[in-house]
Amino acid sequence: MRIITKIHEMQEIIKLDKQSKSIGFVPTMGFLHEGHQALMKKAREENDILVLSIFVNPLQFGPNEDLDAYPRDIERDTNIAEAEQVDYLFFPSVHEMYPETPSVTVKVHERTDVLCGASRPGHFDGVATVLTKLFSIVLPDRVYLGMKDAQQVAVVEGLVSDFHIPLTIVPVETVREEDGLAKSSRNVNLLPYERAQAPTLYDSLQRAKEMIEGGERLPEVVQSFMKEKIEQETEGVIDYISIYSYPSLKPVSRIEGKIIIALAVQFQKARLIDNIVIDL
Ligand code: PAJ
Repeated sequence: MRIITKIHEMQEIIKLDKQSKSIGFVPTMGFLHEGHQALMKKAREENDILVLSIFVNPLQFGPNEDLDAYPRDIERDTNIAEAEQVDYLFFPSVHEMYPETPSVTVKVHERTDVLCGASRPGHFDGVATVLTKLFSIVLPDRVYLGMKDAQQVAVVEGLVSDFHIPLTIVPVETVREEDGLAKSSRNVNLLPYERAQAPTLYDSLQRAKEMIEGGERLPEVVQSFMKEKIEQETEGVIDYISIYSYPSLKPVSRIEGKIIIALAVQFQKARLIDNIVIDL
C-alpha cells in the first residue's frame, strides 16, 4: 500500500492506472471501523485498484459541531487499510485540500432541507464540494457509500447525475454491532450508560418496520410510537424521527412505495443517526 498526501502525486499515479484498470474509491473521514471495512471489501472485489481517502473535511462541519472532537488515529487506520488490501491511501492535509478559502463551492438544492440537512445547514454543500474535488483527484469508476448515511447517498447521486460525472455510486448496507447499534466513528463518544441505551434506536426502527408490515400506513402513528419508545428507554434528545419517500426525500401522507424511516438522537457528546429503507 502506498500512502499519498499530495494531490498532484495522486493524480499522476491514477491517470496511469486508469488507462488499463478499474478504480474503486472509498471516501472516509477515518477512524475506520467495520462499516468502512465493508465498503473496502466490496470495492476490493469489484475493482482492479482500490483507493481509500481519509480526510476530516472542515467544510461539512458547522460552527458548533464536533470538528475538533472528531476521533482520529491514522496509525491504526493505516494498518486496517493495509489489511483490506488498499492500493493507495490518500491522506491529504487540510492545507493541501484547501490552501485558501475556496473560490468555488457546490450548493445542493434538493434533498437537503430534511433530516440531517435541516439541522446541519451547509453540511451537504461541504460534502458535495469535497467529493467533487476527490472525484477529480481519484478519477474513480465506482464509489462506495454506506446506507447508514442514506441522505448522503441520495445527495451524492444527485451530484453525480446533475454534473454528469462518469462514475457509478454503489450503496452498501449498514454494518451493525451485535446489539443492533449502527457502527460509527462517533460511538466512542457515548458515555457507558448511553452506549447501553443506544440499541433502542435500531430496535425502534425494527418495530416500526413490523408495524408497517402488519398493515399500518400512517406515518404519524409510526413516528409517535418510535418517539415514545426512544423517550422512555434513552436519555438522548430526539432531533428527528421522519418518514420520507426514498431517494427523493419528499413527505408522504401514506406509507407506500419505497420509503425511508430515519432518526437522529443527540446524546451528551455524540449525535447518532440511523435509518431503514422499506420497499412496499
Ligand atoms: P465517514 O463518516 O467516515 O463515512 C465514510 C463512509 O462509510 C460513508 O459512505 C458512510 O456511509 C460509511 N459508513 C459509516 N458507517 C457505516 C456503517 N455502519 N455501515 C456501512 N457504511 C458505513 O461519510 C463521510 O465519512 C463523509 O461525509 C465523506 C463521504 C467522506 C465526505 O467527507
